[in-house]
Amino acid sequence: MLDLFADESPWQEPLADGAVILRRFARAQAENLIEQIERVAQQSPFRQMVTPGGYTMSVAMTNCGERGWTTNQHGYLYSPDDPLTGRRWPAMPQVFRQLSDAASQAAGYRGFAPDACLINRYAEGAKLSLHQDKDEPNLQQPIVSVSLGLPAVFQFGGLKRNDPLQRVMLEHGDVVVWGGASRLFFHGILPLKPGHHAATGEVRYNLTFRSTSKSE
Ligand code: SIN
Ligand code: FE2
Repeated sequence: MLDLFADESPWQEPLADGAVILRRFARAQAENLIEQIERVAQQSPFRQMVTPGGYTMSVAMTNCGERGWTTNQHGYLYSPDDPLTGRRWPAMPQVFRQLSDAASQAAGYRGFAPDACLINRYAEGAKLSLHQDKDEPNLQQPIVSVSLGLPAVFQFGGLKRNDPLQRVMLEHGDVVVWGGASRLFFHGILPLKPGHHAATGEVRYNLTFRSTSKSE
């Protein structure tokens, strides 16, 4: 018998004005994406960055693309070079760009041209405190965020830190796109629960695509 649900197809869940979850959107490409993450990490290894306040982040990070998000003692910045290796960040793999194009379009954003992709790796207990993505000069461009491996609870609030939070579980292959009215909404990830995922082992990966150029 033909099982229509054997290969779950993606579906959309509105999250806020300008924000949507594309459930399972990246699942078909997941293996390829994870292989490319490993290749990027061979050139620019995952590292736990230290915030300007001297706090070591629990999430391990690397980047690919023309610029990468990083920290130094003065603040947060997008840099063309990886401060750890002194070399350029690895190029953005084609499958990354294709996915980000398809996801931004599916979410209703046209002409999104990311030049940076931050890659987060969460091990058990790793979290990302509530924050805004506001280091990008052109806030007309959305953020595209891809979840791979172990599930995690994503918090999505409003423009003020103490606005009420929605809590949604993000699973393997889920993509969240936010922009427009919710571009500067506070968001974060609760501490990762221990577990094992067939695709990533003991960790969760997250890719966030950003445009760091001033305007189009
Ligand atoms: C981020 O806010 O940059 C990452 C969110 C996530 O890991 O899902
Ligand atoms: Fe963020």
